[in-house]
Amino acid sequence: MKQPNKIIVIGMGFVGLTLAVFLASKKFNVICVDTDQNKLNTLVQGSTPFYEPGLEDALKNSLKSLSFTNNLSSVDSADIVFVTVGTPPMKDGSIDLRYIKSSTKQISEWCNNNHIQPVIVYKSTILPGTFENIIKPILKSLSENTVVNPEFLREGSALQDTIHPHVIVIGGKEKPILSLKRFYQRVYTRKTPIKTTSATTAELIKYANNSFLAAKISFINTIANICQRFPDTNVDDVAEVIGLDPRIGNLFLKAGPGYGGSCFPKDVQALLSLTKRLGTGSDLLNAIHKTNIQQAEMVLKLITKHVKSLKNSNISILGLAFKENSDDVRESVSISLIEKLLTRKVNIRVHDPRAIDNTKSIFNNKVMYCADVSDCLRNSDCAVLLTSWKQYLSLGKEFSKMRNPILIDTRRLLANKKLPIKYVGLGIGSKIVR
Ligand code: UDX
Repeated sequence: MKQPNKIIVIGMGFVGLTLAVFLASKKFNVICVDTDQNKLNTLVQGSTPFYEPGLEDALKNSLKSLSFTNNLSSVDSADIVFVTVGTPPMKDGSIDLRYIKSSTKQISEWCNNNHIQPVIVYKSTILPGTFENIIKPILKSLSENTVVNPEFLREGSALQDTIHPHVIVIGGKEKPILSLKRFYQRVYTRKTPIKTTSATTAELIKYANNSFLAAKISFINTIANICQRFPDTNVDDVAEVIGLDPRIGNLFLKAGPGYGGSCFPKDVQALLSLTKRLGTGSDLLNAIHKTNIQQAEMVLKLITKHVKSLKNSNISILGLAFKENSDDVRESVSISLIEKLLTRKVNIRVHDPRAIDNTKSIFNNKVMYCADVSDCLRNSDCAVLLTSWKQYLSLGKEFSKMRNPILIDTRRLLANKKLPIKYVGLGIGSKIVR
């Protein structure tokens, strides 16, 4: 392949948009394709359809190198086509491949009509076997020039993770692997490890990676619930020490209300559904998933323990996004908790620095949306902190607005602060008064 210059990215979600903006910043000519014209209209104006730190500024700075279309056939050629469409979860835990199938059909027709053979790169998360059994039969001879290249970026640090990936995995045949490897070596000046594998191994690596991280979280949440029952015990001390063991490592050992977001819940269940299809099943994957669901229930139990009668009580929810620095509420524990509290006739006030709009589209006028924390805590019987927003670290006087000052801090953000409230830290056993 000649030095690639013209690049297509299909699917303008977190992965696709961040990749497109990054490549445009490197002066590649990037054509962004998405079926959602509203999204494209937003992007053309230099605005991002979701909050991601630094992304909007980077988009504005790179607009000259970006173009947008909902119609692949309007483009005449490209050197590389990245596929970054979503693979949302289905009811049985498996993944919905409709966008993979439709974009693959479009690419196939488009390449054949234009007599071109770009390198086709699948960055979408797809289960082992998807390339061989679904994509290859559609692409036919074009599949010789196709690779699987999973993405590991995190929401909230998507741009930085794209600029500095910890690893690049490319799976497929030798020729397209080599082309993409050369491309990445040109893009990434820093030495980033590049691992080449078969397409199926590359597909599995992504699921193994996310399921392992989810396992670490479910594990530490299990330890947190044990700590909770023993006075003077703190899960963060346990995590700190086991994290010093290089065989364990200190990351992803923050106990909390359970993992959420668009990846971990979906990926663990998809891998579990694959093991079922393969006839083996997996007690371990099942336990990771179940433990995560139980953790969200644990938060509700803590509330019911500390609020005498839930009916007609006032509860304040601090943090709606599934993680800090994001406006994403997909699979957020805050959302499922609010749903449960609403069925118990609780009056709910919510606060989040970024995720209010996305929450409004779920609950409309069933909860009160508050622009500041003091307002959220007004007359409250219990506050529940669920997202590690930096601004919550400095909370103090705001708690004086509460009717019954109790804080259930599922992230232990305020564990070391002396506050004139009843403080319940998830994973912290009650203090022994000596
Ligand atoms: C994850 C993977 O990290 C990323 O590599 C993959 O590409 C997509 O899925 P993301 O879902 O964006 O990224 O966020 P992440 O930071 O991994 O957090 C996921 C969830 O786990 C959040 O709900 C977070 O609060 C929770 N979490 C994370 C913990 O509860 N404890 C931790 O120690 C780490």
